[in-house]
Amino acid sequence: MSHGLRVEALAAVSLLIVITVALLSATTRLSPRRTDDTPEFYKSQCLSCHGDHADLKFDEKLGDDEQVKIVLKGKLVDVPPDMPAFEPKGVTPEQAKSLVEYMKQLRKTATTN
Ligand code: HEC
Repeated sequence: MSHGLRVEALAAVSLLIVITVALLSATTRLSPRRTDDTPEFYKSQCLSCHGDHADLKFDEKLGDDEQVKIVLKGKLVDVPPDMPAFEPKGVTPEQAKSLVEYMKQLRKTATTN
């Protein structure tokens, strides 16, 4: 009798472990986020600091190369939060460039509206 219970408990625990592992692997599969989808990526990773129209903390007068470098390497500022480095998060120079282009587009929509 008690033996049967122990088997059931063991089965329940194993099931929990299987579910946990499955959930964990599902989240890690998602976690290098879809850096190829620029608008989505901007929304999830950049918008909170740079705003709907890239109107915050974004100096368009910096050259493209400088901006791409800042996206990849980050930038320390006097008053936190700093600009995080996105290269360690899997963003490539091409993706950084397309993010910078996208921010300029957003900026334009801000001034025409
Ligand atoms: C935690 C806040 C934060 C997040 C998130 C963030 N940034 Fe920044 N970003 C900053 C700060 C702060 C600066 C520096 C602004 C300054 O020089 O005063 C900056 C600077 C920049 C610059 C250079 C322009 C400038 O004026 O210095 C670019 C380009 C940029 N960010 C793009 C991005 C992109 C693309 C993302 C998302 C992948 C992103 N940022 C996410 C805070 C953030």
